[in-house]
Amino acid sequence: MQLTKKEIRAPHLSAILVGELGPSSTYVNNKIKACHEVGFASSLYKYPENVSEQVLLDKVKELNENDDIDGFIVQLPLPAHINVEKIIEAIDPAKDADGFHPINLGKMAKNLPALVSATPKGIMEMLKYYQIETAGKHCVVLGRSQIVGLPVSILLGRKSYPGDCTVTLAHSKTKNIAGITQQADILIAAIGSPHFIKEDMVKEGAVIIDVGTNSIPDPGKKSGYRLTGDVDFERVAPKCSAISPVPGGVGLMTIAALLQNTMQAAKERRKF
Ligand code: GUN
Repeated sequence: MQLTKKEIRAPHLSAILVGELGPSSTYVNNKIKACHEVGFASSLYKYPENVSEQVLLDKVKELNENDDIDGFIVQLPLPAHINVEKIIEAIDPAKDADGFHPINLGKMAKNLPALVSATPKGIMEMLKYYQIETAGKHCVVLGRSQIVGLPVSILLGRKSYPGDCTVTLAHSKTKNIAGITQQADILIAAIGSPHFIKEDMVKEGAVIIDVGTNSIPDPGKKSGYRLTGDVDFERVAPKCSAISPVPGGVGLMTIAALLQNTMQAAKERRKF
């Protein structure tokens, strides 16, 4: 839809970023850059690591009430002194571009219209685009985070396409992880451990989606670090029927899904 032709102002995504450490500022900058690329408006609010919870809650309230803003995100993780759940629950579910609010998570679980978490939504789009068969397949999700593992396990178990999988959600307390991953037709690796998945842990012909975003030292890089996934790509890829790379895989889909959510939020709020 050509919004500008219809004289509808472009969707506006805001981001709240706390601290400068770790890869969060790179991720947020990529999201803002993506907004520019598709012609969305964007704004970024940066706070120091020692910002108080109240200051963040006040900003969330302000963004909730600002009619110019269609959706916003609070980049995670937040420093330990901030109650993450309190911040997420303060976000207006209609502007929750990340789909982290319990209302959106609950609606998603019930297969009702909702803003679906960006990374799981991106993974579903990826399965759809490559026409990966999912019905009746055994999908093993490694990691039970609220951002990825939990929502993606719900989405893949839903009665729909992609979905209708038999889902196993494995995590840090799971016994015999390799014995479980070996049974996976579809393996979603989201545990945050570089190259955790080795070739002897996967079934011949498996589909693997690598959600890992691990920074590992690399003296050859200007930053001294490079991004790598949870899967030992070089050794595992020859066994797979499909595998997503890191970088250049799920990360790009997360951003695309975030933009879709922003558009969805704008349409629902402004009724166009
Ligand atoms: N941290 C890691 N992934 C994400 C994400 O998708 N959204 C937010 N807000 N923080 C994250």
